[in-house]
Amino acid sequence: MEKQLEQLARQGTEAIEQASDLNQLEQVRLDLLGKKGRMTAILRQMGQVPPEQRPALGALVNDVRNKLEEGLAKRQQQLSRLEMEQQLAAEKLDVTLPGRRPSRGAVHPISRVCRQIEDIFLGMGYSIEEGPDIESDYYNFVALNLPKNHPARDMQDTFYIGEEMVLRTHTSPVQVRTMERLAPAVPLKMICPGRVYRKDDDATHSPMFFQVEGLVVDKGISMADLKGTLQLFARQMFGEKQQVRLRPSYFPFTEPSAEVDILCTGCGGKGCRMCSHTGWLEILGAGMVHPRVLEMSGYDPRQVTGFAFGMGIDRVAMLKYGITDIRHLYQNDLRVLEQFEGGM
Ligand code: DAH
Repeated sequence: MEKQLEQLARQGTEAIEQASDLNQLEQVRLDLLGKKGRMTAILRQMGQVPPEQRPALGALVNDVRNKLEEGLAKRQQQLSRLEMEQQLAAEKLDVTLPGRRPSRGAVHPISRVCRQIEDIFLGMGYSIEEGPDIESDYYNFVALNLPKNHPARDMQDTFYIGEEMVLRTHTSPVQVRTMERLAPAVPLKMICPGRVYRKDDDATHSPMFFQVEGLVVDKGISMADLKGTLQLFARQMFGEKQQVRLRPSYFPFTEPSAEVDILCTGCGGKGCRMCSHTGWLEILGAGMVHPRVLEMSGYDPRQVTGFAFGMGIDRVAMLKYGITDIRHLYQNDLRVLEQFEGGM
């Protein structure tokens, strides 16, 4: 037994030294000192040892156990430190590497055009108004001289919410709301950009799109004021060489009414596919505010007159940036939007 203990001490010490990580060391510990280990196996023979030899043998057992435990503890410390150092080495951070650049945001072409339009009209002394997207039949139609069953209601494919409410089909109801609020004060000069909705969906129509409405009410406002204003706008928006042309048209809320064209942004007026070889592109509807509309909103049409216009912001953005499919504006494809990088 003495020999076995000495062998255990020798081989144990060696095994401890050879353990190369903490897992292995634990295996060695179990093998030497564990319940089913070699020390336990040796101690089982103690019963056969004559009693007078037991104290000396007992002391040797303690020596060997202490020695092995000491060895295990020391090796454990060494291995822990080693593993920590390896971990730190693996986590090493090179603070001299360049950082990752955040990708730059871009202003959406519709927001961009909308802000440009606002800037232009703010510069002419207009205020910016807003109205609700969910509008009453009264403001969207009746107060704009479109009573129930008026055939011109069919010009706009309306989303109805019950009988009396609609998703507004144009920004024109904001004209009425603003006049009601300010009448009979003059001058009234406002624009109102916002979302509008129609049952329409193809390359040039989206069921939700953006319009901006303009309205001026004052003493002595004429069609010449309308044309001059739109001329100034077109030049600031599309370039100094721009021109506008008015064609007679019909809207229930204006009399007379006009459709307004600008020189084709594709060919500058020479004629190309984009303008069907006419040299002109339609950008808005306009006219002199109908006396009935003025009257319903609280103005006296014998005292004041007004002009109004309504324009598609999407359409302006498409013409300005040469976008051929309106859906590009609403699919949020980064390859499209990133082309507009930079603020405004
Ligand atoms: N509301 C019309 C539409 O959506 C556009 C329009 C035409 C607005 C003439 C006006 C106007 O203010 O005078 O088609």
